[in-house]
Amino acid sequence: MSVEKQSELYSGKAKTVYKTDDPARLILHFRDDTSAFDGQKIEQFSRKGEINNKFNAFIMEKLAAAGIPTHFERLLSAQESLVKHLEMFPVECVVRNISTGSLCRRLGVQEGLDLEPPVFEFFLKNDALHDPMINEYHICTFGWASMEQVERMKEYTFKINDILKSLFLGAGLLLVDYKLEFGDYQGQVVLGDEFTLDGCRLWDVETREKLDKDRFRQGLGGVVEAYEEVARRLGTPL
Ligand code: C5P
Repeated sequence: MSVEKQSELYSGKAKTVYKTDDPARLILHFRDDTSAFDGQKIEQFSRKGEINNKFNAFIMEKLAAAGIPTHFERLLSAQESLVKHLEMFPVECVVRNISTGSLCRRLGVQEGLDLEPPVFEFFLKNDALHDPMINEYHICTFGWASMEQVERMKEYTFKINDILKSLFLGAGLLLVDYKLEFGDYQGQVVLGDEFTLDGCRLWDVETREKLDKDRFRQGLGGVVEAYEEVARRLGTPL
């Protein structure tokens, strides 16, 4: 079934979202932009939009096959995918298997510790406030999602951790941490947004070399090359 792309609904830091002739469907366009530090550092990398679009499709299909409801429907072109139109909850769900990043900065804990059990954190999606950390009570009290929806987001986020930790380990990669976003679709909690190397940390299991957006954040170079290396190891068709 063909869909017709209509006006732009929203443009984020790395993706633009379009309406379609079907109100229940949107088109995600993965651009070549990469941003960090609340959009203060922005750069374009040729082929990155296409790699992220195809990598996201690959991961979303793996998650759907393992029983996670996702918004992903199908690839439309090199940089575009068709997705369900969710009512997004304005929260980010982060799971951490190894300590690094903002966890170490906030709590002063050592980098590189194995976290058992993994740490779960909620953040409010609000650039002006720099995405502050929040908990279940803030989410329910301010009506960003119900307690039932909160529980479902946590359940899916941890289930996704089990699925993806073993998928990546099979490719010689440690899933250090990642961020997910969910929304409501016809009364169900559904995984939205994306799972790409822009929103997770992956380290080589032997050398602990960073193969994710930290290469961009930290100016290490080889950003697209690292994304391609991860895709190659996983057998993602690019
Ligand atoms: O910066 P921090 O250590 O809190 O990030 C944890 C994980 O969440 C990282 O994998 C990071 O890429 C991801 N993240 C994200 N978008 C944000 C904040 C964090 O994708 N706005």
